[in-house]
Amino acid sequence: MKHIVVNHNEFDDTKFNTHKVSIAPMVDVTDKHFRYFCRLLTKRALLYTEMITCESIIHGDEEKILGFNDIEHPVALQLAASSPEQIRKAMEKLKYWDFDEINLNAGCPSDRVSGNLMGACLMAYPELVRDMLLTIKEYTDKPVTIKHRIGIDGKNILPDTFNRILLDSYEDMVNFINIVREAKPYRYTIHARIGILEGLSPKENREIPPLRYEEVYRLKKEYPELNIEINGGIKTIEEIKGHLEKVDAVMIGRVARDNPMLLRELDSIYDQENLHKITRKEIIEDYIPYTESCEKNGENAYYAIRHMDGLFSGKRGSKQWKQILNTPASHNIKASELLRIALKELPQDTLNEE
Ligand SMILES: Cc1cc2nc3c(=O)[nH]c(=O)nc-3n(C[C@H](O)[C@H](O)[C@H](O)COP(=O)(O)O)c2cc1C
Repeated sequence: MKHIVVNHNEFDDTKFNTHKVSIAPMVDVTDKHFRYFCRLLTKRALLYTEMITCESIIHGDEEKILGFNDIEHPVALQLAASSPEQIRKAMEKLKYWDFDEINLNAGCPSDRVSGNLMGACLMAYPELVRDMLLTIKEYTDKPVTIKHRIGIDGKNILPDTFNRILLDSYEDMVNFINIVREAKPYRYTIHARIGILEGLSPKENREIPPLRYEEVYRLKKEYPELNIEINGGIKTIEEIKGHLEKVDAVMIGRVARDNPMLLRELDSIYDQENLHKITRKEIIEDYIPYTESCEKNGENAYYAIRHMDGLFSGKRGSKQWKQILNTPASHNIKASELLRIALKELPQDTLNEE
């Protein structure tokens, strides 16, 4: 929602209710529909937007790119940017939006992003990252955070310096952080594998470089004053709890998309009594009015329901659920009606399972 929130004061972290688990920024996944859906399953996890470039904020349709529902709070906006000037222009617009956090992407390894001096390649330019974070801070009193990798293997892309850059050691990561921390980011979210900027697709970059959790733990141990969130390959509540013994927070990505029912258990990490036993039936029933409001606003409600794809993951009825969600629009059945059909046709035991 858009509200006036401009405030140039220094961020006071005592006001911020620190989260323990967040749901990662994921392009084409964590849009406002997915976040609404997630919020039905967890009240406490911090939700991220997809990565949004400053250029799109500067030139695009703000409401379409940034719009969200109040129910989504706390919600963090992830920015992709390459210069303080770009950030300044985007923040002039963003200061009217009440995101709960602004995060800078220094972890995306895609060629397209790196080729434009954004994402993971920024790890080679810590002074630039520091200056961009400081610029964001000029415009907001909300937490300003960074998401990066433990290192990169790539090519220096600034003009005249086409040499290989290999920042692969723990010491390289510490050198990066020691410069970036001059901007006092509120949190460092660290994807615990390096980004290989040439020769691997973003998907391969989430699977092939090995996970090196130990280096993130070591960072927290040696720099206990830093707020460290770990990310990468974390799939179960037990794993989340294990990481929380070593670092401050855990970010989960693909598992939220592929097996969203796991999110029901996240709030119990804060409060053991708080096991949210919402059933699939209740989730679908809660999503119907939302789908109807999308239909009323002329939004693509089919797109909104397809974000629920993983709801029956590993359960009886999963195939049928996906078939119903993917009913072609040419059948002229409204998206909200498809959800009602699913409630009637899917196995009642899976729908009502606690
Ligand atoms: C489809 C998809 C899109 C992604 N988009 C972004 C993005 O916009 N910004 C970002 O920082 N990371 C992005 N990531 C990376 C995730 O945020 C996360 O770091 C990565 O998936 C590792 O976490 P996981 O193993 O829990 O999935 C994306 C991941 C996926 C699967």
